[in-house]
Amino acid sequence: MANDTTVAVLGTGIMGAAMARNLISAGMEVRAWNRSRGKAAPLEKDGAKVANDPADAARDANFLLTMLSDTDAVEEAVRGGALPALAEDGVWLQMSTVGEVGNERLLRLAADHGVAYVDAPVLGTKQPAEQGQLIVLASGPEEVREQSEQVFGAVGSKTVWLGNAGEGTRLKLVVNNWIVGLLGVLAETVAFAEAIGVDPAKFLETIEGGPLGLPYAQIKGSMMVEEDFPTSFSANLARKDAGLVLDSARAHDLHMRITEPVTARFNEAIQAGHGEEDMAAVYRTARPDRG
Ligand SMILES: NC(=O)c1ccc[n+]([C@@H]2O[C@H](COP(=O)([O-])OP(=O)(O)OC[C@H]3O[C@@H](n4cnc5c(N)ncnc54)[C@H](OP(=O)(O)O)[C@@H]3O)[C@@H](O)[C@H]2O)c1
Repeated sequence: MANDTTVAVLGTGIMGAAMARNLISAGMEVRAWNRSRGKAAPLEKDGAKVANDPADAARDANFLLTMLSDTDAVEEAVRGGALPALAEDGVWLQMSTVGEVGNERLLRLAADHGVAYVDAPVLGTKQPAEQGQLIVLASGPEEVREQSEQVFGAVGSKTVWLGNAGEGTRLKLVVNNWIVGLLGVLAETVAFAEAIGVDPAKFLETIEGGPLGLPYAQIKGSMMVEEDFPTSFSANLARKDAGLVLDSARAHDLHMRITEPVTARFNEAIQAGHGEEDMAAVYRTARPDRG
């Protein structure tokens, strides 16, 4: 069912494309822009208008939704005239993971243009994005929350509203530290099982369904056992997220003695050419013999 809300989606990678499709299904008009046009073009058959540039996408739109790799990418895309092009009461929903410093930069950019800014990173990966089951960690001005809900409701199953813009980002960093640590220890556990002659599939089977058997361990652990890493969340972006955690920890005088070596593992995986594989490919660094 069509409604009269227009959303400019900048960034139609793994997450942005799925989110754009759900916005269309919810009846909103979507104008999609992606740096490499080829990734936005398939959305045309779903009903999106593919824009030539960010300003073209944002012209008179009610919402600007950014879902790009990092702060530099968001800034680069948005600086091209997207903010002044928005409708007068247009709202910027910044949903990429950009960390504390990045969020501050983007918040200032929004303020410079007098545009309301909602910091809204998400939990959930490719499949939850496709199913409209993301969890949105939203923070920003009270007066735009209700209108923002229609977008968040279309891409997610739950919106957690926090306080001022930046609180969503901080909670996201905390969750990301949990994920990065889990991945590191899971990779090493699978490698350890193999090293001492235990079938790692048996390990996953044993913990399944109990308090130790996180669904996440099953998904990522199975990739490691099968040594097949189709990308839901790339190792490059996991490394970026680990770096954002470490930046914040450093700024708050906290030494992360677990996250640091796991981050180094991601560096190793990326240097070995596995950056575009799923983050579970960090396992490869636990089994250097397998390359
Ligand atoms: N995937 C997940 O599971 C997941 C979960 C939660 C949050 N996130 C966050 O969501 C954001 C998007 O992730 P994703 O997995 O969708 O990433 P992705 O598939 O790698 O897509 C990245 C997007 O950023 C664009 N981009 C990169 N550098 C750019 C630049 N300098 N200028 C303009 N565009 C640029 C890419 O354009 P090109 O196509 O031209 O390269 C692409 O549209 C990231 O912040 C990520 O951390 C991801």
